[in-house]
Amino acid sequence: MGLFLQMLTVLVTTVSLQGWLPLGCLDEERIALLQLKDSLNYPNGTSLPSWIKADAHCCSWERIECSSRTGRVTELYLEETRNEEMGDWYLNTSLFLPFQQLNSLSLWGNRIAGWVEKKGGYELQRLRNLDYLDLGSNSFDNGILSSVEGFPSLKSLYLNYNRLEGLIDLKESLSSLEVLGLSGNNINKLVASRGPSNLTTLYLHNITTYESSFQLLQSLGAFPNLATLYLSYNNFRGRILGDELQNLSSLESLYLDQCSLDEHSLQGLGALSSLKNLSLFALSGTVPSGVFLDLKNLEYLDLSSNTLNNNIFQAIRMMNSLKTLILMGCKLDGRIPIAQGKCRFEFQYSR
Ligand SMILES: *[C@@H]1O[C@H](CO)[C@@H](O)[C@H](O)[C@H]1NC(C)=O
Ligand SMILES: *[C@@H]1O[C@H](CO)[C@@H](O)[C@H](O)[C@H]1NC(C)=O
Ligand SMILES: *[C@@H]1O[C@H](CO)[C@@H](O)[C@H](O)[C@H]1NC(C)=O
Ligand SMILES: *[C@@H]1O[C@H](CO)[C@@H](O)[C@H](O)[C@H]1NC(C)=O
Ligand SMILES: *[C@@H]1O[C@H](CO)[C@@H](O)[C@H](O)[C@H]1NC(C)=O
Ligand SMILES: *[C@@H]1O[C@H](CO)[C@@H](O)[C@H](O)[C@H]1NC(C)=O
Repeated sequence: MGLFLQMLTVLVTTVSLQGWLPLGCLDEERIALLQLKDSLNYPNGTSLPSWIKADAHCCSWERIECSSRTGRVTELYLEETRNEEMGDWYLNTSLFLPFQQLNSLSLWGNRIAGWVEKKGGYELQRLRNLDYLDLGSNSFDNGILSSVEGFPSLKSLYLNYNRLEGLIDLKESLSSLEVLGLSGNNINKLVASRGPSNLTTLYLHNITTYESSFQLLQSLGAFPNLATLYLSYNNFRGRILGDELQNLSSLESLYLDQCSLDEHSLQGLGALSSLKNLSLFALSGTVPSGVFLDLKNLEYLDLSSNTLNNNIFQAIRMMNSLKTLILMGCKLDGRIPIAQGKCRFEFQYSR
């Protein structure tokens, strides 16, 4: 009996000790975080003020999430931690190796130009659980692609606004990807022969080569499951978007906000019969009305900040699938001839 009570006491003590340190983390990880902080702040930065040696509760430090089960670091959000004035720099990827359960890592906006180690950052691939990696707004060139290959469970990869150029080859080793961000790079072709066939979401905003190159959209046939395509801030004048996108039979959402489009470029968009959402916010050029008629499944149409004429309303009246029409800040001619109760209109009339 006495022994049993003693055991019970030990048990209770252990449980309550764990209760007392809910935000602690492994020493190994805490030391690595402090090294990471030093590296990001070198030589005289002041980021991450809550990451201090004297505080053992590193799971309560800013920009960190831990697993409540294991107490290990699972998410690190290190956006804009490096003083931009220090210019381009090279990050030591070995600093991340202690974080064995890391599943989300953002290093967005730190002017990283590459990795310190000669091995080219391959250590990163030892992060077996990483499924979200944001390297946007840095200074990476095409070399970054080989160092992000081979993550066994990477689903979302953001390389927006870096210095990628020309041909981008997505190898077999990126096959688990579902979301890819390549906006704001100077690329003109995507090759993905045995690449990410499960890719559902692709960001290609503000690709500066669109004006000169016709290849990028043609290479999208490599992504048969693409459902959401972001193409805002591009100039498509003189190109026939409908033809170029027609093989994307799973496409549900297309974003063409602030694009330069003409009637010619929108021709054939009606062939995208799976389209449910279409966003055409603030186009430069007039919105042609005919194209919408063939979009038999369209549920959401944003035509805000455009100049529209009455023809467009005649077309919209006949679109039986439409549930939401957004016309914020549009310049409209004449009377608005819609009197059908089934739509939710978000109107803001301006002259
Ligand atoms: C930090 O160091 C850099 C380079 O040595 C220097 O140009 C900058 O003025 C320093 N900034 C501060 C706040 O001391
Ligand atoms: C990178 O970081 C690791 C781990 O802290 C360290 O052992 C190594 O010397 C560093 N490499 C360079 C080139 O600074
Ligand atoms: C693609 O998705 C399917 C269904 O979710 C999954 O079974 C398959 O493993 C994925 N393929 C790759 C290469 O990750
Ligand atoms: C597009 O990219 C250029 C150059 O990278 C940049 O200067 C500009 O701000 C970007 N525009 C938008 C709307 O993001
Ligand atoms: C669409 O698919 C057809 C048949 O596979 C192919 O011949 C054509 O080149 C493709 N079009 C584009 C724009 O990729
Ligand atoms: C676009 O379509 C998808 C699926 O059809 C839906 O879940 C999503 O909310 C839509 N987005 C907008 C902005 O309407």
